[in-house]
Amino acid sequence: MKIGLAGLGIMGYRIGANLAKAGKLHLVYNRTERKAEQFSKEYGVKYVKDPIELLKEVDLLITMLADDDAVSNFLTPLIPYSKGKIIIDMSTISPSVSIGIAKKVAENGGFMYDAPVIGTSVFAEQKKLTVLLGGPEEKLDVVKEILSETASTILYMGGNGMGLYAKLVNNLMVGVYVAALAEAYNFGVKAGLKPEDVHKVLALYGSAKSPTSELKIPKMMNNDYSTQFATKHMRKDLEIITKETQNIKVINPLSSIALQLYRVAEAMGHGENDYAAVLEVYRKGNK
Ligand SMILES: NC(=O)c1ccc[n+]([C@@H]2O[C@H](COP(=O)([O-])OP(=O)(O)OC[C@H]3O[C@@H](n4cnc5c(N)ncnc54)[C@H](OP(=O)(O)O)[C@@H]3O)[C@@H](O)[C@H]2O)c1
Repeated sequence: MKIGLAGLGIMGYRIGANLAKAGKLHLVYNRTERKAEQFSKEYGVKYVKDPIELLKEVDLLITMLADDDAVSNFLTPLIPYSKGKIIIDMSTISPSVSIGIAKKVAENGGFMYDAPVIGTSVFAEQKKLTVLLGGPEEKLDVVKEILSETASTILYMGGNGMGLYAKLVNNLMVGVYVAALAEAYNFGVKAGLKPEDVHKVLALYGSAKSPTSELKIPKMMNNDYSTQFATKHMRKDLEIITKETQNIKVINPLSSIALQLYRVAEAMGHGENDYAAVLEVYRKGNK
């Protein structure tokens, strides 16, 4: 089976590396050619400049792109060539957008899966991603086999869009939680507690500690906003959540407030920085 990959960003580059090292990657594509060239040199996998050529040349195509527009713009022209092909989209996008594309792929005789991931670039490098999978049952075995080259856990959630809804459940939680961590951290430090003591409460011994607070509180303490997950991506995911809650008519007061905070962080210049930078909104927001 020939496998292709489109999207060599932070995540896609590492996912591609895992597949290439396993001898399972046939062809890559990236919008900015320089990254494809670099990948090709590093891993000895050919690259193409034309997305249609990419799909024609492979049996299974993995996409790892930025957002709704990127996935729609990239996949829509490929739909007429999707007969018999398997497309696995690992990007975090709107379930409704993904379901719309999947329907058209199915009408053309192809198989589309949404396979967003939990885990940062470090997890991707270590093949320890968790994939939340949605799509038809028909090709599940082969899809899981390929994804296991880059993920340690694959959870099948149901039909098209269900992987993405599951991913958004996770990001709603961490988006609100990291904003709450920033609020609590700022409150503690401004009250006169030593940062390392606030760390003990939030990341080590307190009742709300978690793997996320263990990861993010040290970053907040050190003003280390090197990117594990970008503020712009968290803002995007909370926007998708807000849109989807309107579609299914459920309320989302906490995630809408968190969204405003990440928007401000982005406006302050932290779009590419780690979303722990939401702390800066609190720091600068003080009297
Ligand atoms: N980073 C993380 O820790 C993480 C964790 C879990 C999930 N995710 C999700 O995974 C996805 C990718 O994240 P990332 O961190 O790898 O993002 P990234 O580094 O920004 O890479 C985005 C990729 O999408 C491509 N792209 C953007 N717009 C495009 C368009 N209109 N047409 C074609 N290609 C386009 C970019 O190409 P260029 O190189 O040409 O810009 C690049 O290859 C996102 O949906 C994100 O939410 C990320």
